[in-house]
Amino acid sequence: MWKKRNLSLGGHVGFDSLPDQLVSKSVTQGFCFNILCVGETGIGKSTLMNTLFNTMFENEEASHYQNGVYLRPRTYDLQESNVHLKLTIVDTVGFGDQINKEDSYKPIVDYIDTQFENYLQEELKIKRSLFNYHDTRIHICLYFIAPTGHSLKSLDLVTMKKLDSKVNIIPIIAKADTISKSELHKFKIKIMSELVSNGVQIYQFPTDDEAVSEINASMNAHLPFAVVGSVEEVKVGNKTVRARQYPWGVVQVENESHCDFVKLREMLIRVNMEDLREQTHARHYELYRRCKLEEMGFKDTDPDSQPFSLQETYEAKRKEFLGDLQRKEEEMRQMFVNKVKETEAELKEKRERSLHDKFEQLKRMHQEEKRKVEEKRRDLEEEMNAFNRKKVAAETLSLSQPLKKDKDKKK
Ligand code: GTP
Ligand code: MG
Repeated sequence: MWKKRNLSLGGHVGFDSLPDQLVSKSVTQGFCFNILCVGETGIGKSTLMNTLFNTMFENEEASHYQNGVYLRPRTYDLQESNVHLKLTIVDTVGFGDQINKEDSYKPIVDYIDTQFENYLQEELKIKRSLFNYHDTRIHICLYFIAPTGHSLKSLDLVTMKKLDSKVNIIPIIAKADTISKSELHKFKIKIMSELVSNGVQIYQFPTDDEAVSEINASMNAHLPFAVVGSVEEVKVGNKTVRARQYPWGVVQVENESHCDFVKLREMLIRVNMEDLREQTHARHYELYRRCKLEEMGFKDTDPDSQPFSLQETYEAKRKEFLGDLQRKEEEMRQMFVNKVKETEAELKEKRERSLHDKFEQLKRMHQEEKRKVEEKRRDLEEEMNAFNRKKVAAETLSLSQPLKKDKDKKK
């Protein structure tokens, strides 16, 4: 083991500028952040995104009559001070609209996996360019819960359970202005207990960084955030604020006693955006990558738990593949030989059968001929006998005639 020695510097060397160098490099490179909004049609996904980023993204309504769920990604270039952010917002279209919602989670899981797969493919390239690669992996999934005040729907539980090992999930209660304060409190407790009892892992704001551990810990206790979205500007006192105006009053989006919007923005954008990016890479992508490489047959250790390099795995796989190929070739050859034998036997049998048939036919013909000849012979014999009989009769007759003449002469 190397022994480290602590030395003190005699003067300013300058590597204390490393963090600044990093910041400057990152700023030049720009950042990307990808948000997935999962929630039923019309629950307020677009409005919340517009409110969060204080701008107007596209805001077209989805139809309630989709045959299935599909995901719609849209990418925007945003700039604040000198920081560029490539933001991708992915919307679930048609979520919760089908009668049979059994497979509604699948397109979402597939989309997340596809983004991981694209990144993995780029990583595995010989000439890879991850530096300017447009990373589309989902950093956060905002799961919009309907403000029913009752409990989570089974679709919510199933979907979150399927997603929790693939993406950071922050559950939020949408349209929180439609639920009373006491009901909201109970609803939050109910949701959290249901998530826990169903083993759904949601994203926890990190508490290991001292600078933010306190705020993050207190925010973890506030989950799920109850949010209100609005891009409407309303005058309250002498200030214009974003709010929803009702006949009985005004719900201010950025008023913490009205809803948790500020908490969500603080946690999602201002405090934990980098942690979300990091968790996506270090936890979710790492898991995907590991499973995928293991599926492909790569391992870090051999059966005796000894380190097993990529090169060795490749060689072992190659050998295994060649062995397989040889075995298959041998099988094919054997199959071919058997087939030829079978065909030969078939042909032989056919030929023998036809010869046999021919022989039988000839035999029958011969017997027929023989029978005809026999008949003819019998006819001829009969004829001969008749002729002989006639001949005998004729001879007998001719012998008796001279006797008669002698008699006549004697007279
Ligand atoms: P699709 O993209 O069509 O699935 O809908 P969406 O989920 O993007 O919902 P959208 O933001 O278009 O909002 C649908 C309706 O809900 C609009 O009339 C919004 O004004 C309203 N709405 C959005 N947010 C809130 C909210 O926080 N509270 C209330 N009461 N209404 C809201
Ligand atoms: Mg929308």
